[in-house]
Amino acid sequence: MVKSAYNIVVLPGDGIGPEVIECAVNVLKTTGRLFNIAFHIESIPCGGHYYLQYEKEWPDGSFEKCQAADAILLGAVGHEVDGRPVFTKPGKPYPEPQLAGFAQVIGNRQKLDLYANVRPIKLYPGVRHKIHGEFMQVWQPGKVDYVVVRENTEDAYTGESQTIADGRITPIRITRRATERVVRFAFHLARRRGKQKKVTCVDKSNIIGAHRYFREIFRRIGESEFPDIELDYAYVDAFCQWQIRNPEWYDVVVAPNLVGDIISDNGATTQGGLGLAAGGNIGDEHAMFEPIHGSAPKHAGKDEANPLAAILAMHMMLDWLGAQHEDERLQRAAQMVEAAVAAVLEEGETLTYDLVGPERAAKCSDVGRAVETKLRHLVERSAGS
Ligand code: IPM
Ligand code: MN
Repeated sequence: MVKSAYNIVVLPGDGIGPEVIECAVNVLKTTGRLFNIAFHIESIPCGGHYYLQYEKEWPDGSFEKCQAADAILLGAVGHEVDGRPVFTKPGKPYPEPQLAGFAQVIGNRQKLDLYANVRPIKLYPGVRHKIHGEFMQVWQPGKVDYVVVRENTEDAYTGESQTIADGRITPIRITRRATERVVRFAFHLARRRGKQKKVTCVDKSNIIGAHRYFREIFRRIGESEFPDIELDYAYVDAFCQWQIRNPEWYDVVVAPNLVGDIISDNGATTQGGLGLAAGGNIGDEHAMFEPIHGSAPKHAGKDEANPLAAILAMHMMLDWLGAQHEDERLQRAAQMVEAAVAAVLEEGETLTYDLVGPERAAKCSDVGRAVETKLRHLVERSAGS
């Protein structure tokens, strides 16, 4: 149902998180004004710097606020002091000390049942790649356009670990329920995209028994419920070179959690780097959107990080909210935000150091404003035509 206002919880986090998220929130506010959509935005401090000060991950009641929100927008977590990451004390639900910020990332993914981590790998026109420090056009836009759907609640991410005689064991858990729902999600996505209508299952099932189980479920669901979709299989090691060499082979890729983590960063290379890679953690009831890059402490506080991944994550949030609430304004707004980002990239005038090098680099906040200006122009032009 269309709502009169949408409640958004924002978790800026650590490092460059707050800077890139500020840009994304500004674009969100502009979008609200241009499309006449009300957003109630509440920002909650969290992450490693917060933990250092208060000895807790975030203020009491924050998880409940995430649970009650229509959607969550996350920056990045991970704080360093003297080059060392800040860890929380051992406690539930994680039996081991964890990086401060896990409550936001892993906690929300698991407790809100955000079972599909959706990471589009898309190269926009005009984006060049940095190889050996040189910017060059290597991959062609249109030929890099697929989506990694990463299982987001289990595999090696259970938080469990135990001591054995001469080391430690961390289990890999693959359950039927979690696998069925994520592979169905991937097949439905391939149907909706209508491109190659193909889903590739990427795993290490030649060696990990639990991944064999993942692949068997993928095959069973695919063959019995999605006869119109082509099934494709790859082992993750081989996939890593194919996704660089022939990204055009892929449409939708589904993978267990850790494999999905690795191939989505690897794939980001072919979309111009992590500065452009966005993702959504999606469940049936809740969703949380984030740039897939980390907190990048060495770039923090310098207004130099690329905000486009955060803005693209916000665009995915609008799109998801629109589908969830059957609100066409949101879906139209999502398309326009993406078009504005694409236009800023193609013009190439206002981009951060990672895309154009230090001499021509614009500031993080400049790029955010350039997207807002472009968005305004696009909306005015479409209203006038
Ligand atoms: C990601 C990140 C996280 C993950 C970290 C921060 C726990 O790398 O979102 O990809 O491993 O899932
Ligand atoms: Mn990752």
